[in-house]
Formats: sequence, C-alpha cells, structure tokens
Amino acid sequence: MCGIVGYTGNKPAQEIVIDSLKKLEYRGYDSSGIALHEGEIVFSKKEGPIANLESVLDSSNSKMAIAHTRWATHGVPSDVNSHPHLSNDGKIAVVHNGTIDNYLDIKSSLENEGFNFLSESDTEVIPNLLSKYYEGDLVKAVSKILDEIEGIYTIAAIHVDNPEQIVSVRNETPLVIGLGNEENYVASDIYAILKYTQQIIYPDDHQIVSVSPKDVKVLDQNLNEVKFEVETVEKYTEVAEKGGFEHFMLKEIFEQPKALQDSQTELFVNSPLDNLDLNWKIGSISVVACGTSYHAGLVGKYVIEQLTAIPVSVHYASEFRYAAPVQGVGGLMSSRPLVILISQSGETADTLAAARAAKQQGCHTVAICNVPGSRITREVDGVIITKSGQEIGVAATKTFLTQMQALYALAMHLAFQSGSIDHVMLKNWENELRGIPSKITQLLNSSESIKELVPHISKAKSTFFIGRNINYPLALEGALKLKEISYIHAEGYPAGELKHGPLALLSSDTPVIAIAIQDHTYSKLISNIEEISARSAPVITVAQKGDKQALRVSDHGFELPEVDPVLSPFLVAVFVQLLSYYVAHDLGKSIDKPRNLAKSVTVE
Ligand code: M6R
Repeated sequence: MCGIVGYTGNKPAQEIVIDSLKKLEYRGYDSSGIALHEGEIVFSKKEGPIANLESVLDSSNSKMAIAHTRWATHGVPSDVNSHPHLSNDGKIAVVHNGTIDNYLDIKSSLENEGFNFLSESDTEVIPNLLSKYYEGDLVKAVSKILDEIEGIYTIAAIHVDNPEQIVSVRNETPLVIGLGNEENYVASDIYAILKYTQQIIYPDDHQIVSVSPKDVKVLDQNLNEVKFEVETVEKYTEVAEKGGFEHFMLKEIFEQPKALQDSQTELFVNSPLDNLDLNWKIGSISVVACGTSYHAGLVGKYVIEQLTAIPVSVHYASEFRYAAPVQGVGGLMSSRPLVILISQSGETADTLAAARAAKQQGCHTVAICNVPGSRITREVDGVIITKSGQEIGVAATKTFLTQMQALYALAMHLAFQSGSIDHVMLKNWENELRGIPSKITQLLNSSESIKELVPHISKAKSTFFIGRNINYPLALEGALKLKEISYIHAEGYPAGELKHGPLALLSSDTPVIAIAIQDHTYSKLISNIEEISARSAPVITVAQKGDKQALRVSDHGFELPEVDPVLSPFLVAVFVQLLSYYVAHDLGKSIDKPRNLAKSVTVE
C-alpha cells in the first residue's frame, strides 16, 4: 500500500528519499513520485517501479523532499494520479496515504470556487484546500482542513514559502518522525528511515507535526504545542538482499527455523507473557486478525481450548470491528474478556479498528505483532513481539509460524497459570516447541521432492486444500498461499464439509491437497480422500513419516519429518508454502509482489 517519506536537513534530499522509498517497495505499489524545493516546487511522478521515476529525475540540490509510493484506490495507476499532488498555484505539494471519504463533496465545492482538478485521485483536494486556507502558515492551514476532510490519512505537505518545513498529520494510518543531527525525517513506515535514525516520535491522530532540520514541533488541532516522547528503537538488520535465493519469499521460507528460534528466546527467556497481567479468571477469548494472521488465530484456538478449556472464538477483523461479538460470546460479561489481535505489520486498518472496538467494550487487549513500535503495539494493553525479522515477500510465511508459536506459548502460559498443567508439563511443551526448528530444517532439506508435485497442480484452474481439526486452518492457509502467488483458484475446506456441496466441483482436473495427520480425526480424513478419489479428482497428500495408508489411498504424496500431531501445523505450513512457491515459480508469476496485493493493508 502507499508509502510516504520526507527529509529536511543539510544533505541532498532527493537521494535520501529515493533510497528510503525503496525500503517501502515491499509493501506493494503501482507508481511513485517526489516533490523538491528548488526555489519553486519541482515534482516528478511516474507509473510503475521506482526505477521509472529515477529515470526522469535530474540532479537536485534541494535539502528538503517528500516522496510517495502509490497503491491505487481512487483512479487507475497512472502518472497523473500518482502523488505528489499540487495546489493549482503550484505552491503546495502533498503526499497522502489513506482515503478521503468525502472528497467528491469537497471537490465540487472547490470547483465552484474556481479550483481545477487534473486527476481522479481523492488526494488532489488536499493541496487545494490547503491553498484555500493558507495565510502564510502551513501548520495553520493543515489545522483548518482537519475539520473538513473525513477518512483515514497520513499527509505530508510542503509550501514554496518555506524551503525547510514539512508539515504532517495522521488519522488512523501510521506516521513516524525520525530525528537526526540537524536533519529530520518523516515516514509512514519505520523501515523507511531506520537506516538513518533510531530516534523516533510517534504522533497521535490529529496531532500536527512541523518538521524542520533543527526543530520538530508537535501541536494539537488548536495549535497548542504538546510534549512528545522520543523512543529509541532497535536497529533492524536491513533486508536488501535475497541472499542467493531467487525470491524473498523463498529466502523467508528458509529463514523459518531461525525466526522460530529467535522468537523462542523472546518468549521463553525474556518472558513477555509474564508482563501481560492475565491473572484473572478468563471466561472467554476472542482472536481477531486478517488473512494469514487469522489462520494463525484458528490454530491458536485449537491449542488454547485443548490446554485451558477456555472457549475461543476467532473473528475476521473486518467483521469484528462492526459487530459487538465479545459480549455476545458468553452472554453477559461475567469476567473481563481477553481479545488477542494478531498482525505481523501492526498496521492493518481493520485489525487496528477491531482493537479499538474491543477496548471500547472494556476488553483486555493483547497484540501479537512482528513490528515493535507499530500502531497496534501502542494501542493495546499487552504485546507479544515475534522475532521473525522483516518480511519482504507479500505472502506471509515466517511471520505465520512465529505467530502460531506465540499462541502455543500463550496457551501454555494460561494453562500453567490456571493449574491445568504443572511445571513439568510446561517444560515438556517448551522442549517440544524447541524441537520444531530442526524438524523444519529437515523438511527444507527435502524440499526438492516437493517440486515433483508441481505438474499435478500448475495446469489446474481450480484446487482444494482439505484438513481436519488443528490442520483445517492449514488447509485455509494452503489455499490462500496458492491463490495469492500462483493465481490458481484454491479453496480451503474442513475435509468433512466436501460432501455438503463442493464435491460437485471435483473432476479429474481438480487436484485436492489433503493434509492427513494421525490425530483422532485421521480415519475420517482417509475416508474423505477415498470419496474424492471415487470422483476421479487427483489427491496429493501430505502425511506424517511412515504413513503408508495415507500414501496408498492418494495419487501423490509428501512425507513430513516425524512430528506430534498437535505440532504438525508448523511443518504442514512449510509444505504448503513451498508447494505454492514452486507452482507459482513454474508459472512464472510475480511471487514477491503478486498483482493487486499489498504487504500492509492500511486502508479499509
Ligand atoms: O500485517 P497483518 O498480519 O495484519 O496482515 C494481514 C493480512 O493482510 C496478511 O496476513 C495477508 O493475508 C498475507 N500477506 C497473505 O500471505
């Protein structure tokens, strides 16, 4: 999705913002642009990769710049719809993330006042509104437009009158200010500027920030200065290289043993769970997330319910935010409900809104997140940070595994606290989790054989993934991975549901990927495979090591390293990731940046 960077200081700004903008490419975008101060506002914008923008840039001495990557919401990807947008007089340039919901009303009233519009973008109303209210002070003009614009936004604006000042404001989408030595930064994503500074300010919604090389002021909407805290954040290892892998996604799949180990150190040595204050009798838990994070939540439900007997409901954040399901779970709220929000980015608009809705209902909120300091971590009551490192591929892989691991650890913690498991059992669980990275390494070492399955899938128009019990969410995740990177239609189903409708779709060209794990549902799953085979659909089964029966009833198969069924989702996940990756690779798709998708979904 869209990204913003801004720089004001003592160095050539163009180089810095282009370098920073490239750090945001992983988020997904369709065009990019830059505005500079060269005595007048100079701007360039181009559809396509940042390289297209670079190819039209002249050298510049400007010491201030704002730049943007656009992910189209209003108007097709094109040069003219890209940001920055300028006021009619060319004196103000604006970049914007988010959406202005009432832009059509604003546009028509500005048109009545004589303003012209060049693009289809909602953003173009902002520089013109600013220009309407500008009386020599850009901060004042920004404060005035806040009453008029509705929607979610991060805005960065510059005016020709001031060659040093960037003015920025946010509502529900991220904004960070980075502090340097006589130079300061504005960004919508901390990754954009971590190379340059670890001193970060996180403004609140509607706070207006005036950033100059030697001065940062944070003001409320009435223009009273407010105190701000400067936080020192951890420097991330920059992930610029694919380290010999053809795609970031493949690299990130292979990084999973390390991501799990690093997260184990966080979970079992730094013990963030002890600081969550979960010491009341929890009557119910709601887990709320989107996409892959939602699937991690579904796995978490099985583990938490199995270990603690606390009922867990799992919700899509986009639904939860508009419902009031928490109080509905157990009727009247007898004890404070716990709501767990899962988001690798910590920025997903729906998950953030769901966190706010849960807080409004008086719930205790805990986030599982991979980005320290991200919006969600600042809004909830407690945080579990996963240590996956930055994930660049749009398809979530290593963050999924570390989210699941965090939920297993949370289940163990709650079970120990409530007395359902003793210290010995707690340690046994911990040891079992510690054994998973080496099993994943074994699986990765045999990944070549997964390639042999590719021809059975890559020509299909439609596929199914089926699983039961704790591996039903893995069927959903397998289907999501395959569809998002290979563009083959895929559906994930609980295996027992096929006969209630989807069997009608099966034929010899509809492959079914079956997850056959030897838990208490195993014999039922084997029957489901036989029902599918009887309809001539080819079955590719992923089974535990030595499971001859599952492989005998299937057309093709893959054996996982030995694993306890309750921990099998970690290995099944790696299998479905690799299978999807190799299919997409065979089809020559854009694996790290699938069409139409973005890494962080910061709009609704
Ligand atoms: O950052 P989040 O975990 O909140 O993102 C949620 C989804 O957008 C995300 O998991 C998405 O489904 C994956 N990129 C799919 O691989």
